[in-house]
Amino acid sequence: MKLLTKTLFLCLAICLTNGAPTHHEHAAEGHGGHHAALPDRCSGLEFDAIVPDETGKMFFFKGDYVWGGFGGEVHLANETFKELDDIHGLGHIDAAFRMHNTENPDEHDRMILLLDDKVFSYYNHTLEDGYPKEIQEVFAGVPTHLDAAVECPKEQCKSDSVLFFKGHDVHVYDITTKTVKTKTWSHLPVCTSAIHWLMQHYCFHGHNFTRFNPVTGEVAGDGYPKDARNYFMTCQSFGHGGGYKIPKCSETKIDAITADDTGKTYLFAGPIYMRLDTKRDGLHAFHITRAWKEVTHGVDAVFSYTDKIYLIKDDKVYIYKGDGQYTLIEGYPKTLKEELGIEGHVDAAFVCPSEHTVHIIQGHTMHDVDLTATPRVVTEDHALALHDIDAGLCGPEGINVFKGSEYYHYENAKALADTTVSPLSKPITSAMMGCRD
Ligand SMILES: *[C@@H]1O[C@H](CO)[C@@H](O)[C@H](O)[C@H]1NC(C)=O
Ligand SMILES: *[C@@H]1O[C@H](CO)[C@@H](O)[C@H](O)[C@H]1NC(C)=O
Ligand SMILES: *[C@@H]1O[C@H](CO)[C@@H](O)[C@H](O)[C@H]1NC(C)=O
Repeated sequence: MKLLTKTLFLCLAICLTNGAPTHHEHAAEGHGGHHAALPDRCSGLEFDAIVPDETGKMFFFKGDYVWGGFGGEVHLANETFKELDDIHGLGHIDAAFRMHNTENPDEHDRMILLLDDKVFSYYNHTLEDGYPKEIQEVFAGVPTHLDAAVECPKEQCKSDSVLFFKGHDVHVYDITTKTVKTKTWSHLPVCTSAIHWLMQHYCFHGHNFTRFNPVTGEVAGDGYPKDARNYFMTCQSFGHGGGYKIPKCSETKIDAITADDTGKTYLFAGPIYMRLDTKRDGLHAFHITRAWKEVTHGVDAVFSYTDKIYLIKDDKVYIYKGDGQYTLIEGYPKTLKEELGIEGHVDAAFVCPSEHTVHIIQGHTMHDVDLTATPRVVTEDHALALHDIDAGLCGPEGINVFKGSEYYHYENAKALADTTVSPLSKPITSAMMGCRD
């Protein structure tokens, strides 16, 4: 968790306001650009390599330069990765990936940079002992002078593997058996960099990128290739606008938070949402409409029950089905009255794991609504010591109730209902909510 505190950067689609490009394009590539203008990634670059570090911060390499994060400034790569210059005659980085080796913690999460025939392994931005090594020594059977590389965890590739790209050939290196299988994916553009991000694989070519299946190479149908500037970097006049800025923890105010049975945890604030359970890939703010198309004006409260997610806004309840990709259930939105038997503004709502009661908070009152009853009716009302809360979340460790930049912890719903004096509040932390310290 503590790694996260330093690494909050943004965002797909929305993007921080502090990364506005200021530099002009640098046409020439390679060494010796002392007096050349710095390159501008918003001008549409083809990156040599893109790779996250162990905290999820994404690094974009191009020639002598690197950008850290989606909104970071450009720097000389050798400022951060000092040893890249120690061997003279090596060119720029060819490819990079983040090692995914769940069986060997000493290798897991390393940033692996590939130059010509050399492998550099970084952790905590420090070159590891014994590196650089030859590609043949570390990944026997994999060619040198690669175009791109990307890790593939066993959940997606049957065993922890690395895909090495050279032209249309893909050399799949199995980390456990240390064997290589070569495939040819002629239909996929030649990838100059590739990343594994939020459970998906992306191939970058030119300033575009394409999502692909890491086992079959099949290209996703929906609208690819897409322009990387709209998704992976903060470029003025690109992206879907919004200018959402991650708030300081002391200024946090959320509208809703929920976690489903599979652990997917979503935070909602104004027009955006963030997944909180995918910290290894950094935290990213998206427009709510990206996942829940019909919910166009934010939410008041959200809860998860069985395989569905309920979004409440004003007097409407939107129920979506799905697992990451959500579809509005036919006939929705319905009114609060119709769906849950209540009326008026909802402050917060939550269901505890494996329970069938939703606790709905309105002002000073908590209503318990039986979700197995048809029609749904309020079974019990409780007067709360706390009021005007923003959101509530119930998990195995109990209930957190959020109010502004603070939260209150309760053992369970009964404790929340029975407590006559509010417990001491605690400040929301960046590890919980992805805010800035
Ligand atoms: C870093 O790279 C730049 C550009 O190639 C070069 O001019 C500079 O001398 C290098 N710095 C170090 C410390 O090697
Ligand atoms: C990471 O490196 C920095 C200096 O570069 C050092 O101060 C810090 O202790 C290191 N962290 C870990 C976890 O090794
Ligand atoms: C990027 O993709 C668009 C289609 O989305 C295409 O028209 C364009 O030619 C592509 N550009 C490059 C450099 O690949």
